[in-house]
Amino acid sequence: MRITLIAMRYIKNTNCVGRKHQTRSQDTMKLFDVYPLYDVTPVSAEGIVVTDDKGQEYLDFYGGHAVISIGHSHPHYVKRLKDQLDKIGFYSNSVKNPLQEELADKLGRLSGCEDYNLFLCNSGAEANENALKMASFHTGKSRVIAFHNSFHGRTSAAVAATDNPKINAPINQQQKVTFLPFNDSETLESEIKKGDVCAVILEAVQGVGGLDEPSTEFYQTIEKLCSAHGVILIADEVQSGFGRTGKFFGFQHHGSSAEPGQSITPDIISIAKGMGNGFPVGGILIHENIKASYGLLGTTFGGNHLACAATLAVLEVLVDERLIENAKHLEGYFRGLAAEIPQIKKVKGRGLMLGLEFDFEVADLRKRLIHNQHLFTGGAKDKHVLRVLPALNIAERDLDTFFEKLKKELR
Ligand SMILES: Cc1ncc(COP(=O)(O)O)c(C=O)c1O
Repeated sequence: MRITLIAMRYIKNTNCVGRKHQTRSQDTMKLFDVYPLYDVTPVSAEGIVVTDDKGQEYLDFYGGHAVISIGHSHPHYVKRLKDQLDKIGFYSNSVKNPLQEELADKLGRLSGCEDYNLFLCNSGAEANENALKMASFHTGKSRVIAFHNSFHGRTSAAVAATDNPKINAPINQQQKVTFLPFNDSETLESEIKKGDVCAVILEAVQGVGGLDEPSTEFYQTIEKLCSAHGVILIADEVQSGFGRTGKFFGFQHHGSSAEPGQSITPDIISIAKGMGNGFPVGGILIHENIKASYGLLGTTFGGNHLACAATLAVLEVLVDERLIENAKHLEGYFRGLAAEIPQIKKVKGRGLMLGLEFDFEVADLRKRLIHNQHLFTGGAKDKHVLRVLPALNIAERDLDTFFEKLKKELR
């Protein structure tokens, strides 16, 4: 009894509150309040319909931030995950996992990137973190070139290469990153010629930034300068990959291997988001010219059985339902409908990674679309851009509905 009392007193004196006891203002643990939330609580979802706890249905033209690629709860995806869970959900990367090889093979063939090797991790930031680390290992250098309005994630080097000082803590500011504008080849060349650059990292279509893109000429210049000066070209396809822009990867819009000297061959391609349709999975495709060695990269969870099953299911549905072609086709249809709305100043983006630019800030419009029209859309760093990121298996009639609802709120 005495021992128990002493033990309880000890626990009381050393619990997590301990040191901050004086400033304590709450009795239960709360969530760290970093997300401004819409007052909607989804409890189920199917296709592009999300249902909340009151039974209200919403149309999802945001895809949970470009994540839902093949639709919520796609039956093939659900079955593959359930079947996998019944067999084995996880084991560490210290044993063989044939699903990883199956995934690498399928991904290489579908994307046309057979001459790359795959390293699997858990998120977009982690993918870019590993990509930047590989670039630095490979070149022995440390300065990175990124572009205005870029977003590459919130971890150490990835956030340093993200053009947003607000999310860059002093510890991240130790990284050497130079931000350049798109399409200024001269400045890029003079920066690269300084000889201390390990990587150039860019998004083919900027997601968070607001759907801006480099020109084809500029992307090809980046490729040539990187090749000539031994700099690693990192294509951040976290948001634009897996068919969202109407090609498997966004950079593939800027050069075809059919035209000699014109093709873009990034050294590293980072992937996440739509890859898992909501299952947390990311990765990098590393060109075979960059050699692996034991211990160079690593992760506990990356490439686990469930993550592989989720990604394989996504690839299978992309092929079976011809979703990349669908994304490409629907861009044209979307642009046609947008052209009928005078308040829309510009349509940006490609495939089903699209943005509508207005001459007013869209935050209030987004709120009204959710609450009055029950329609989810996305915002961007450019506050005038409404982002549209639906699952790739929507149909023309879904876009008709989207524009009907949008028109009602623009009246
Ligand atoms: C282009 C791009 N790269 C990286 C990231 C970071 O991905 P994650 O949030 O999975 O870390 C994002 C997220 O929005 C992104 O859009």
